[in-house]
Amino acid sequence: MPEIALTPAPAHLRHGSNIGQPLTRRDGVLKVTGAASYAADNHPPGMLYAVLAVSSIARGRVTFLDVDAAKAHTGVVEVMTPANRPPLAQDPDEKTNPFMFRLDLLQNDRIRYANQPIAVVIAETLEAATEGAALLSLRYDTEPARVGLDATKSFVPPGVGVGNPSEVHRGDVEAGLAAASKHIEATYETAAQYHNPMEPHAIVAAWDGDTLSIDTPSQGLAIAQGRLAGLFGISPDNIHIRSPFLGGGFGCKGLISGPQVLGIMAARMAGKPVKLVLRREQMFGPVGHRAATRQTLRVGVDNDGKLTALDHRTKTTSSTFDDFFEPAADISHTLYASPAIATSHEAVRVDTGTPLFMRAPGEATGSIALESAIDEMAQACGMDPLGFRLKNYAEVEPISGKPFSSKALRDCYTQGAKRFGWERRPLAPRQMRDDDGLLVGWGLGTATFPALMFQAQAKAVLRQDGSGVMAIGAHEMGQGASTALAQIAADGLGLDIDQVEFRSGTSDLPDAGIAGGSAHTATAGMAIHNAGADVIARLADLATNDDRSALFGAGNAGVIARGGRLFVRDDESRSERYADILGRAGLTEIEGRGSSAADPAAQSAYAMHAHGAVFAEIKVDPDLGQMRVTRLVGAFAAGRIINPRMVRSQLFGGMIWGVSFALHEQAVMDQRSGRAMNANLGEYHIPVNADVPSLEAILVEEGDPHVNALGIKGVGEIGITGTAGAVANAVWHATGIRVRKFPITLDRLIDPVGA
Ligand code: MOS
Repeated sequence: MPEIALTPAPAHLRHGSNIGQPLTRRDGVLKVTGAASYAADNHPPGMLYAVLAVSSIARGRVTFLDVDAAKAHTGVVEVMTPANRPPLAQDPDEKTNPFMFRLDLLQNDRIRYANQPIAVVIAETLEAATEGAALLSLRYDTEPARVGLDATKSFVPPGVGVGNPSEVHRGDVEAGLAAASKHIEATYETAAQYHNPMEPHAIVAAWDGDTLSIDTPSQGLAIAQGRLAGLFGISPDNIHIRSPFLGGGFGCKGLISGPQVLGIMAARMAGKPVKLVLRREQMFGPVGHRAATRQTLRVGVDNDGKLTALDHRTKTTSSTFDDFFEPAADISHTLYASPAIATSHEAVRVDTGTPLFMRAPGEATGSIALESAIDEMAQACGMDPLGFRLKNYAEVEPISGKPFSSKALRDCYTQGAKRFGWERRPLAPRQMRDDDGLLVGWGLGTATFPALMFQAQAKAVLRQDGSGVMAIGAHEMGQGASTALAQIAADGLGLDIDQVEFRSGTSDLPDAGIAGGSAHTATAGMAIHNAGADVIARLADLATNDDRSALFGAGNAGVIARGGRLFVRDDESRSERYADILGRAGLTEIEGRGSSAADPAAQSAYAMHAHGAVFAEIKVDPDLGQMRVTRLVGAFAAGRIINPRMVRSQLFGGMIWGVSFALHEQAVMDQRSGRAMNANLGEYHIPVNADVPSLEAILVEEGDPHVNALGIKGVGEIGITGTAGAVANAVWHATGIRVRKFPITLDRLIDPVGA
């Protein structure tokens, strides 16, 4: 059984110290009792059900749809096809910025990937809509599907990720390799993965004239609002999105997807509210995925075991009709201090939906290859993998030459190693067995993720009854945002958390930016912090300018807020309740505003990243190749920790995904049809409880004075980096077999020729 040590949660807090407390989720009771309502739980009166008909081929044209048969089915109200769909104000194939992805909204009869929506059946019941979709009896003009990394001619993409250059180098890699006393070259492959949050994309859409109201999960409410405004030709102010809870997202709910828009179009067509929920297999196509990669690394070292060159080349896939390129090689920009580094990407176009951001896009794929290659280099040098990393990790970001804003990677290595017991690790592989004769292996991987910040706004209110409000359209994806952000809000308002009404999760509130890039706590948190400071400053103005106040003459800078009172900083005997200040001014409430954005000066001066080290133990059956991770210890330095319970939970989630990356997860593509053969949660393997080992996440202390005023770095994605490599390296240490194709499956340990 996994041993997850839970920190006891205080029911109440000391005033002014909400940040740092391991509070339990504020929405926990709602969730475990089923009272939390997710998008698909909404049933407005008169609501109809929409079901997608999707293509079973990956490339070609639709030649026949039996609309009459579907419409004749009892309960079917309407069948939406390219022939009759409502007009849009914008071509769904238009692309005016790199964050805008092309959508399939029944614009024509072309099929560009399997599971592409080609019609929507609207009916009085889910059953009737489902049966209606089956009765469409689709026929196709099929063209051969192009599948996999060698399907078409490769090219250098114009950019990777979001606007990163495809090719970057510093120093002369060829010279560094030529001068190396030892070098390795190895090629690794990672499989395509599909985001599968427990809650699939779902929408309940209702039109009232030109006003649109929707319930749908979103990681980026304002961006979704803007995209929908463009597509439907209405003002963003006429679009009201409610997204109080997401059942996970992992990037696939960052931007509004085609199926969600189809739900809105169906409601337009039907003139009634419509619900549309993706079936699990429909998640494998129109809502993004992590593309497969093939990565070749060349690494050289000198006689002292110091890196002389690091070359990281990636090949990946994108769709035939849009551009997203997994930036896998970019991980090599930041971790290891090689005097020569080169990274490059090439891509092929295949008949799939467009890949997209998926938890640590680039970092996750790149990290498993880089950490494997670093391990192979250490092995070639006869060095301990930890010792090798301690010798070679970067003190200054090698590709940019910038110092890190702060970095506690060495502490992560040493604290993690100590806790794990790494010093007892034999250097050679295949040396350890447990009492049952299973091979035991220990592996290490380095974790890193950039500390990003986007832009956000928040509104703060203090009321005369002693309570406060913080309003921001933040996103509760299950990660604990509504708890951690409420903690920041309470401290910002100088109140106990129970006195603060935290409003979030709708597009009518101030824009919280996107809950992505592990940047939500920093981005929304700083807007909240600044809104709190603004309202407190306004309140202090009232008091310090009023000769009836105990704070008269103290000046803004001389006032602190705590426990619903303002105090003179140097003389805490002089204080006054918020309620009394407001009351005397004849106000029932006072309002403040705050915003946040990355500081360009700090960003140009420093490289900003979180860091970590993950240690893995695996047991392998020597006869059957069966593998089970038995222990994971991760040590992470991610700036200020707002809520250690939520942070550990995020890190565990990432680490479990790392196990999944190394051993379980892959979309198996049918080379003939271009369909994923395992588009369901039975055959698309992810770790279940029995696959999850004892987990420990050490929160290494780190104060970063540059990243933002609160020192927050974010933890949503770093856990997946490092862990996958640690598990792969543990497999080698257990068996002596280096598997370079992920996920590592047991056949490769039985028949290493195939590895
Ligand atoms: Mo994440 S892939 O930044 O939602």
